[in-house]
Amino acid sequence: MTDPRDPQALRADAPLLDGWLLSTELAQRGALTSMCTPGHKQRQDLTGAVVAGDTPLYGGVDTIKHADTLLAEAESRAARLWGADWCRFSVAGSTHGNQALALAAGAPGQEIIVTRSLHRSLLLGLVLAGLRPVWVLPERDPQTGLPAAVAVQTVRAALAAHPGACAVFLGDPSYVGTIGDLAGHADAAHEAGVPLLVDAAWAAYLGFHPDLPAHAIAAGADGMVTSAHKALPASTQAALVFARTQRLDRARLDRAFEATHTTSPAGAIIASIDAARALLSRDGKQLCARLLRLVAGARRRLAEVPGVAVLDGPGVDPAKLVVLLAGTGADGYRVEAELIAAGMPVELGDRDMIVPIVTLADTEDTVERFTGTLVAAIERHRGPARRPDPSPAWSVSPEMAIPPRDAFFSPNETVMADAAVGRISAELVAPYPPGIPVLAPGEVITAGALAALRAARAQGGRIAYAADPSLATFQVITAG
Ligand SMILES: Cc1ncc(COP(=O)(O)O)c(C=O)c1O
Repeated sequence: MTDPRDPQALRADAPLLDGWLLSTELAQRGALTSMCTPGHKQRQDLTGAVVAGDTPLYGGVDTIKHADTLLAEAESRAARLWGADWCRFSVAGSTHGNQALALAAGAPGQEIIVTRSLHRSLLLGLVLAGLRPVWVLPERDPQTGLPAAVAVQTVRAALAAHPGACAVFLGDPSYVGTIGDLAGHADAAHEAGVPLLVDAAWAAYLGFHPDLPAHAIAAGADGMVTSAHKALPASTQAALVFARTQRLDRARLDRAFEATHTTSPAGAIIASIDAARALLSRDGKQLCARLLRLVAGARRRLAEVPGVAVLDGPGVDPAKLVVLLAGTGADGYRVEAELIAAGMPVELGDRDMIVPIVTLADTEDTVERFTGTLVAAIERHRGPARRPDPSPAWSVSPEMAIPPRDAFFSPNETVMADAAVGRISAELVAPYPPGIPVLAPGEVITAGALAALRAARAQGGRIAYAADPSLATFQVITAG
């Protein structure tokens, strides 16, 4: 394997990386008197090094007039690598990718089959596109309370009951790495004559090693979103959107993508997607082999700690590490605080669970240090084992009163929490992470949802997107 730390070696296969390196070299030599944005003009004596490396795609990495040539070349290389026939690079995360696919999927008022354990970005995609969700719920593991995949039979039944639905949109893998039968979902969707779209935000490495499940496009999906910045060595906000265009229109996909993307993409972010693609193409199998080895080793070590459980086995992404703490009695929020204090922030920590993200950039050393610190923190907080009390995000059972878009634009008022029970929510309320709405606009605020949100907050969780994150009041649709 070529040394992955040498980005120069990737240059020949990564046109945007090459463009970014050329433009930064020019700036460093003082050979650039830019009369374009960005306003810092590569000077670091005004706002400091915070702007270092910030070169725009248009008028930096490439010219303003011809920038789409390099971009199109890089995107078509990515499309080839993933077996898609359309690919776009986004600087606005899977958030933007989900919204672009939602805008490409149907017309306002049409139904769409969607998993209710969706990320809030897709929910807002439905608002933008005016699509009416037909919710499908994932199976749940009765022991842990965590979501498994959505069963193919559930989607088939929804498609049969809603023959006008324009697409099936699933989140797979789930936030906790559970993986469904995407080939079965693709067959179900295609038999109904509609595309399968998949939010695979967390797992951009899928398909790059024989021991990893196939990615959604290889499994037959028509569209897939994935965050290059989450699992690949790419810059924050970097994401990839893929499609096969038998059931989705290429021009419509482009329009939908452009509708909500910035006209000034950061060259470094865009180039980092190209570089990550070139790296995966060259060294993906070896890097994924190491990732799999690291996660398997961490799972083995953690499973030996009394009371600790790790998600494992068929139906779980082998590159995902999910550590369950209820059997140790340790409070995950305290464990997380210790990890943060040790300089090891994790992606999710709640009372019963710690989810670190292990990526292609990790090494034996980083993962060993992390597991060692985690085990020591668990031992310091050990207590009587308890029953898991999973985040309400995993067990939402929605009562949709009006479609999310109608609710989003309806007149609303603020009421005290107890008076909000039975009213229709105007807002999206989600414990974060994972950002799965417990309340979506248009859903009835049930006593159960309110109690679960209050419990999550009382345990130490952050309640996001609510106008009042203290949960004292809620925004509800004005009656009458
Ligand atoms: C399932 C899922 N989809 C989409 C997103 C949005 O991704 P991004 O942060 O890249 O916009 C997230 C973010 O955590 C997510 O968990």
